[in-house]
Amino acid sequence: MKITKYIIPVAGMGTRFLPATKAIPKEMLPVVDKPLIQYVVDEAAAAGAEEIILVTHPDKHPLKAHFSKNEKLEEALEKSGKDALLQKVYSILPAGVTVTTVEQMEPLGLGHAVLCAREIVGDEPFGVILPDVLIYDDKQGCMEQMVQEFEQQGESIIGVEEVPLEDVDKYGIVSLANSENVGSKNRKQRMSGVVEKPAPESAPSRLSVVGRYILTPRVMEILENTKIGAGGEIQLTDAIATLIGEEPVFAYTFKGESYDCGCKYGYLRANIEYGLRDLEVSEQLQRLINLHAN
Ligand code: UTP
Repeated sequence: MKITKYIIPVAGMGTRFLPATKAIPKEMLPVVDKPLIQYVVDEAAAAGAEEIILVTHPDKHPLKAHFSKNEKLEEALEKSGKDALLQKVYSILPAGVTVTTVEQMEPLGLGHAVLCAREIVGDEPFGVILPDVLIYDDKQGCMEQMVQEFEQQGESIIGVEEVPLEDVDKYGIVSLANSENVGSKNRKQRMSGVVEKPAPESAPSRLSVVGRYILTPRVMEILENTKIGAGGEIQLTDAIATLIGEEPVFAYTFKGESYDCGCKYGYLRANIEYGLRDLEVSEQLQRLINLHAN
């Protein structure tokens, strides 16, 4: 079965990035010259997305504006013959993809944000991408890799990566049905549980959930009955933990490099490394880095 609908939750407050995110949504912060949201929409499009569902908040109008037509700007670029820039503007929304919005009036948590999209998603499996995590792979985007895996059995699959033990309390951490497989080359493994931000001494593994999910629609029914969890929020992790008790759910160790752009260091690292891959600025940036290395 194809995955055509992708939920991208963008209704959070982005408090870790204040004051930048007071008036500008975190998801609109640029990495090199593209806002975070555009990277993840491109990743979903490469995986076969036809509909992107932005779970947003009325204060976050720049996000909607980014994907809407701006005739004045297009006319001005056309008149001045700035064709390359015009093409960049045209390609903001990939061909064959539509953007729908649904509002989450209060940031009650990621689980609640996903539930807000229930009616639009309907009764089919869907993708979820967190826009503050960028994943770079020069061959195949993370979501596309996961769709390929999903197509084999049609069961829920969650992107994971190994983190240092001292960092496990920052993430959702998964446990595997066959823990002997931890660290093996087998990228897709059945999960037996998931916990939100465990203490290092009680963490079931070092495999953290990174913000890429393909889920069966059963999770929406579970979310309806999921109570407020860690941090006073309705956690997607808790609903997935319940789902694991009912159906097979897999963890997938993706190929590629992740950047947690929800925190300062991850965001700066993304700008440097994406900058080094950008033909226009890579040489200058490399010179600057060399200068500071000496
Ligand atoms: P985060 O927890 O990383 O984002 O949620 P945040 O809450 O905006 O940031 P901080 O922690 O205050 O700095 C991951 C994604 O889920 C969305 C956020 O917008 C972000 O893109 N989100 C989170 C929602 O849409 N609704 C929520 O209730 C919570």
